[in-house]
Amino acid sequence: MGPSLSRGAGEGLLTAFAMSDAPSQPSRRLYGRRRGRPPREGRQRLQQELLPQISVTLPQAGSLDPKTLFPSRPEAVWLEIGFGGGEHLAEQAERHPEIGFIGVEVFENGIARLLAEIARRGLANIRIFADDARLLLDRLAPGSIGRVFILFPDPWPKRRHHKRRLIAPATLYRLAIIMQPGAELRLATDDRDYLAWMLEHATAHPDFLWLARSPADWRGRPPDWPTTRYEEKARAAGRAPAFLRFLRRSA
Ligand SMILES: C[S@@+](CC[C@H](N)C(=O)[O-])C[C@H]1O[C@@H](n2cnc3c(N)ncnc32)[C@H](O)[C@@H]1O
Repeated sequence: MGPSLSRGAGEGLLTAFAMSDAPSQPSRRLYGRRRGRPPREGRQRLQQELLPQISVTLPQAGSLDPKTLFPSRPEAVWLEIGFGGGEHLAEQAERHPEIGFIGVEVFENGIARLLAEIARRGLANIRIFADDARLLLDRLAPGSIGRVFILFPDPWPKRRHHKRRLIAPATLYRLAIIMQPGAELRLATDDRDYLAWMLEHATAHPDFLWLARSPADWRGRPPDWPTTRYEEKARAAGRAPAFLRFLRRSA
């Protein structure tokens, strides 16, 4: 169920595949800070007590079937990378109890926020991978993920930092492997340059089909797409976000 390499853009992605297929420590840092102010006492307790219960641990060898993380054996598993404060993830998890969710985030204060939300809403269908998303992407089983959200990833606007952008051929290549045919990839950004970059890379990938038919399709947030703190900040600063939906094509 891996991505097709027979079509043109596949060749250019071979290098990315070679890089991303090696289950090793990522060589380059893609994210900003891991820690802010110390979380409040209640949140610290959740980090000590709740986080170990719902943390994703990678297997010693082989790939991870994400459904095995949930005793309820969900219909599908959806993945959110860089969930920030977890507003979108918690809301989706509450709306979809039949789905298992994996949230990935490196920023401890964001993880603490999500833990508080999980406890407040009594959510049993979220697991957290508190490390670099690339480590998890390398190990998820092929065709095991039903939907992926990467909302407002850091834009790294300086040209010399573009190589840190999360949306890149190596990431798209891994996503195409772990996503089921027909699965949806949702991206958002408020940065015009990153928007052009996302579209360039995702539409060049042979396994992803951009679903927009008119500007209205990407200028407005669909009703089943809860807002995030970052989106609110962007709007308050006068920046209009874009909401992109791609289909993982069938082989
Ligand atoms: C600009 S914030 C957006 C947060 C959230 N999605 C929102 O819309 O409010 C980007 C987030 O991605 C996280 N992040 C960046 N690179 C990451 C990586 N390689 N693995 C996991 N998280 C990452 C950062 O820690 C940060 O919280």
